[in-house]
Amino acid sequence: MKKSLRSRIVPAAVLLLAGSMCFAEDGKAIYSSKCAMCHGPTGTPSATMAKMMGIKPTSDPSMQSLTVAEIASAVKNGKGKMKPVAGLTDPQVQAVAAYFKTLK
Ligand code: HEC
Repeated sequence: MKKSLRSRIVPAAVLLLAGSMCFAEDGKAIYSSKCAMCHGPTGTPSATMAKMMGIKPTSDPSMQSLTVAEIASAVKNGKGKMKPVAGLTDPQVQAVAAYFKTLK
């Protein structure tokens, strides 16, 4: 009895741990849940968002020239009309900034 219970709990705990470590670094998943509603799923905002809030697509030279640190700062501190994005840990901010930088 004891043995079979333990053999189920241990793999479950390992899976949970591996899963949460993986999510913390997954800039793409963070982007989808925290940024895509304004910046669009691929970095190009919808025409309405672009017009109403003045969001540039990531293909714009002024977006391309941002460093990962500048992107991370926009996420943490806000920038212009963009409010700071809440609910992200520092490693998550870094991961999503690095991912944002790969969007063209
Ligand atoms: C509620 C809508 C909204 C969300 C959510 C949002 N943004 Fe923005 N973002 C904006 C707007 C609006 C601007 C344009 C700000 C301006 O220039 O006034 C902007 C601008 C930016 C810029 C350009 C900053 C600069 O220096 O010009 C970056 C980089 C950026 N966002 C990254 C992100 C990332 C990464 C996320 C997710 C973690 C995110 N944004 C989430 C609305 C949003």
